[in-house]
Amino acid sequence: MPVAATSLYDSIPNRKWWKEAIVYQVYPRSFKDSDGDGVGDLKGVTSKLDYIKSLGVDVVWLNPIFTSPNADNGYDISDYRGIMTEFGSMEDFGAMLKGMHARGLKLVLDLVANHSSEQHEWFKQSRSSRTNKYRDYYHWWPAEKGKPPFRPGSFEVDGSGWRFDSLTNAYYLHYFSYKQPDLNWENPKLRKEMFDMMNFWFDKGVDGFRMDVIPFISKDTSFPVITQHDIDTKYHGDWSQYLASGPHLHDYLREMDSQVLSRHNVMSVAEGAGVTSATAHNFVDEDRKELNMLYHFEGVSLGYLPGKFKQMGPKGYSLVEFKSIYSKWDGVFAEKGWGTIYLGNHDQPRMVTRWGNDAPQFREPSSKMLTTFLMTMRATPYYYFGDELGMDNIKFNKIEDYRDIESINMYQQIKNNNGDLKEFLEAQKIGARDNGRTPFQWDSSANAGFSNTAPWLSVNPNYKTVNVAAEEKEPNSPLNYFKKVVKLRKDNPVLVYGKYELLDKDNPKIYAYTRTLGDEKILVLLNFSKDTVSWNYPTLKSVSKTLLLSNYTDGSNSADFVLQPYGALVYKLD
Ligand code: GLC
Repeated sequence: MPVAATSLYDSIPNRKWWKEAIVYQVYPRSFKDSDGDGVGDLKGVTSKLDYIKSLGVDVVWLNPIFTSPNADNGYDISDYRGIMTEFGSMEDFGAMLKGMHARGLKLVLDLVANHSSEQHEWFKQSRSSRTNKYRDYYHWWPAEKGKPPFRPGSFEVDGSGWRFDSLTNAYYLHYFSYKQPDLNWENPKLRKEMFDMMNFWFDKGVDGFRMDVIPFISKDTSFPVITQHDIDTKYHGDWSQYLASGPHLHDYLREMDSQVLSRHNVMSVAEGAGVTSATAHNFVDEDRKELNMLYHFEGVSLGYLPGKFKQMGPKGYSLVEFKSIYSKWDGVFAEKGWGTIYLGNHDQPRMVTRWGNDAPQFREPSSKMLTTFLMTMRATPYYYFGDELGMDNIKFNKIEDYRDIESINMYQQIKNNNGDLKEFLEAQKIGARDNGRTPFQWDSSANAGFSNTAPWLSVNPNYKTVNVAAEEKEPNSPLNYFKKVVKLRKDNPVLVYGKYELLDKDNPKIYAYTRTLGDEKILVLLNFSKDTVSWNYPTLKSVSKTLLLSNYTDGSNSADFVLQPYGALVYKLD
């Protein structure tokens, strides 16, 4: 994507294509099935590139497409240089990439560097004997030292991140499921393998990597005992603080930059698990030569009960807190570095259910309002496929409907502890990851036009009306609104680079802010409530302004700062 030339842009120091880009995330398993096995694939993606292009986005981020036994849908890789059989072949990959580049789209792949699959050849070798040359590609704890100090394994029923392997009488570390053993980044040979592999993909023409749980690659490998008291006091209950961001993290990232990233014109974005506003600059400041961007978890964690991260929440949220988090993060990068913004991805429920309102009368306006938010902030938007249609949570009633290892194993864990399964299943209707993974809704034909056979995960029954074919025809659909807001951002550099200022911060229903660049000023008003709200801000009421966008097309939104339920208004102040 060439950086656009306009006079306002000329005043910007340090422009980068990835700051001006809109990233569209595609979960390939659920996008389009081309060969009738109920699973999306690369040929499916290729067949829909014109659709992606029609959205006006610039970059496609694809979740892992590498060879994998799929314990965690591709986040358990058994060959980093192969394509997952269900997704196709290397030839299909080449055709997809060519098709993207021909349309001016860039491709970002997912780098899963903290762990591999237990089916990876390295792990098979590593576990085979204590003297095998791959032994140190993973973290082993010999059983004669006794039981290793507790580390959590997020996707394990017993909650433990160590698994005993009788073959060599030792435990190995896995921060996720036991099928995802953690790689040992202390070992320079392993690091070289990873860097060579990244160069392999960049040499094919890939334009960047999203880096899965990258702060986890460095840990304190003396594995000290950490007590609950330490966790509560020193780490404030946040396990990512003591598991991750170890002593060599930034050395490894700098090495990655010098060995890989700096050699190509590519973008990098960290999944910033455990990264705080205090540590963010260490990852993304240009002079550090590490990464370009990261995405934080503070926003999407809002509303969860502490210590019960996924099990029993989220339970609603306060807009005042929401505003304060996103304003704080804008401030973090106001002078240096660059931010990201997202409300949905493959680890989150659907944004309209979580942050808007999916009741029939509010689903469309609230999804458009949230889209307006994402496209008018000073940060690179990461927009999750299907949100442009206003897709919402499927809200399964029974555990058998879920496919996600996280939901299934948490259910089992709660069951084993005689916990409240009913409460858990209710909470999953809001929070579960599978809500965001249901097949994309192309049209009203069987299986939403996603596949000609029963898909791997159920289609949301609302596909009959919520789908691309219907929404392309309807001028006021969420889809057409999305295209409009994307264009607005593209046409107005002030929306990319302009200074952000929060107004009326304590207003519990309205999120109001301005964006300013040179002589241009834009005002964004978002109603996060189901009430009609008249925004009372006298200083701006009287100034002359032009309405650029409203998510209600009947005009009912615009008169004098009156916002309909979940209304969104964008003005240019003259
Ligand atoms: C990241 C991924 C998530 C995966 C986990 C383990 O958080 O986004 O989907 O389950 O890492 O790889």
